[in-house]
Amino acid sequence: MSYSTELEKAARVVANAKYAMAFTGAGISVESGIPAFRGSQGLWDKYDPAEYAHISSFTRDPEKVWYMLKELYDITLNARPNPAHIALAELENMGILKAIVTQNVDGLHQAAGSKRVLEFHGTGETLTCLSCHRSYAINEISLEKIPPLCGECGGVLKPDVVFFGEAIPQEVLRDSFEEAKLCDCMLVVGTSAQVYPAAQLPYEVKKNGGTVIEFNLEETPLTHSLPTLFIGGSASQTLPVLIEIIKKLRRE
Ligand code: APR
Repeated sequence: MSYSTELEKAARVVANAKYAMAFTGAGISVESGIPAFRGSQGLWDKYDPAEYAHISSFTRDPEKVWYMLKELYDITLNARPNPAHIALAELENMGILKAIVTQNVDGLHQAAGSKRVLEFHGTGETLTCLSCHRSYAINEISLEKIPPLCGECGGVLKPDVVFFGEAIPQEVLRDSFEEAKLCDCMLVVGTSAQVYPAAQLPYEVKKNGGTVIEFNLEETPLTHSLPTLFIGGSASQTLPVLIEIIKKLRRE
């Protein structure tokens, strides 16, 4: 199979990295059937984030926001990792990838076998009662009636995802920037790189002299502001080929 020279170049950089990491966004899960937020068919075309994704919207009208959340849960609870998630898990198994910082809340990196996954925007796998703070796993509750209520106190349950207007959990913020400091090669996969502080991470790697390799269908603000290697195409196609080339290089 002929590879693009960019992909060959990227494979050499990744294969020789001392501490590679991945920074992923919604685009890596699109081929698992989960809509991204921006771009064609984006979730924010259907639901205005100011109305549905801000913490003040949730506290003001939880039932309305839960209408969107239930639609997302119905998709993500049936979603399976795609070849892009599996390729990153393999890269970790090869001892090359040390961590993934993901903006996604779908749990698909862990489902693919990745061990060190930092969930920058939290997770939809657990929920917390806004009144008594009891924690629930998503498979413990029914979404027949929304908003789902706490079995203990009847309070409204909120997924442990970071809404706009909420702070990034301190620990994952600190750990993610720690990883970026250690990293000499970052694979940026399927993110429009528009939401901060997450989108600051690739700049941290660059600042420390590392290489940023962008895997996306289209160019993003990163592509021209950071001299990166840009690998165009679907990550579910390009990442498995990257692994294939790295394996070939290792056999040489
Ligand atoms: N392969 C690679 N990239 C893809 C693919 C694919 N198959 N499909 C889509 N993309 C790219 C799009 O081109 C786009 O650049 O994925 C990116 C998705 O961008 P967004 O929808 O903005 O998702 P993301 O960058 O993760 O958003 C960041 O914004 O709304 C908040 O909290 C939410 O975590 C989210 C954050």
